[in-house]
Amino acid sequence: MSALLETRGLSISFGALKAVDNIDFSLQSGEIHALIGPNGAGKTSFVNLLSGRLMAESGEVLFDGRNLTRQPAYRRVRAGLGYTFQVTSIFAQLTVQDNVRLALERERSASAAEILSLLKSTGLEAHAFMPARDLAYGHQRLLELTMGLALRPKLLMLDEPTQGLADSEIEGFIALIREVSKTTTILLIEHNMQVVMALADRITVLERGRILAQGSPAEIRASEAVQAAYLGSKS
Ligand SMILES: Nc1ncnc2c1ncn2[C@@H]1O[C@H](COP(=O)(O)OP(=O)(O)OP(=O)(O)O)[C@@H](O)[C@H]1O
Ligand SMILES: [Mg+2]
Repeated sequence: MSALLETRGLSISFGALKAVDNIDFSLQSGEIHALIGPNGAGKTSFVNLLSGRLMAESGEVLFDGRNLTRQPAYRRVRAGLGYTFQVTSIFAQLTVQDNVRLALERERSASAAEILSLLKSTGLEAHAFMPARDLAYGHQRLLELTMGLALRPKLLMLDEPTQGLADSEIEGFIALIREVSKTTTILLIEHNMQVVMALADRITVLERGRILAQGSPAEIRASEAVQAAYLGSKS
């Protein structure tokens, strides 16, 4: 395995708050890497620095052999970085298939067959013509995932994709991510430890903008520092 993504000394502050504080991180091609940590730890800010929604104050973002630190978000998408947002960001008034079309047409024109095939991959094909706002919440999250997959990213970053899903929807989601991970490297921000432990090859724990621990699921489960900072209050 080789590093697909690497950050060196990556930092951003909001006023006096160091939301992401000098992070050295690397992610191997082919892995599912979970990013966990308490609320406000800096997980979303870190991913925003990777996607280009936020520009780094200092440090570097290296992806697939390129330095993307100063590149705007659309260039990073083009380089193969895909992402979904923590807060649902679909176009409610558009149909399901038009949402997917928009995601695809950020880059190029899309055929109906291609859109249908994407919707099939996430099990939404029966809902293609429905306005997105009429989808059940769990299906809206699946639509986001479909949109994140549309441009066939090399790395897909998912920010709390199971937030708000019913317990009965979690198993299906885990299976779907396993399927996606056969062709796509995944950075998964997730609070649900059942999902993290089921999916992650490696886990990074953030706390107050810094890396508190890193390791296999078994190592993280056994870490006392992690227990104290996070798992104790969540499991
Ligand atoms: N645009 C912003 N302006 C000011 N402060 C911000 C901004 N975005 C994030 N923060 C602050 O930075 C810190 C890290 O926030 P972030 O959203 O990255 O955490 P998180 O780990 O994603 O939390 P959660 O698990 O609740 O989603 C928090 O203290 C947050 O209030
Ligand atoms: Mg967040």
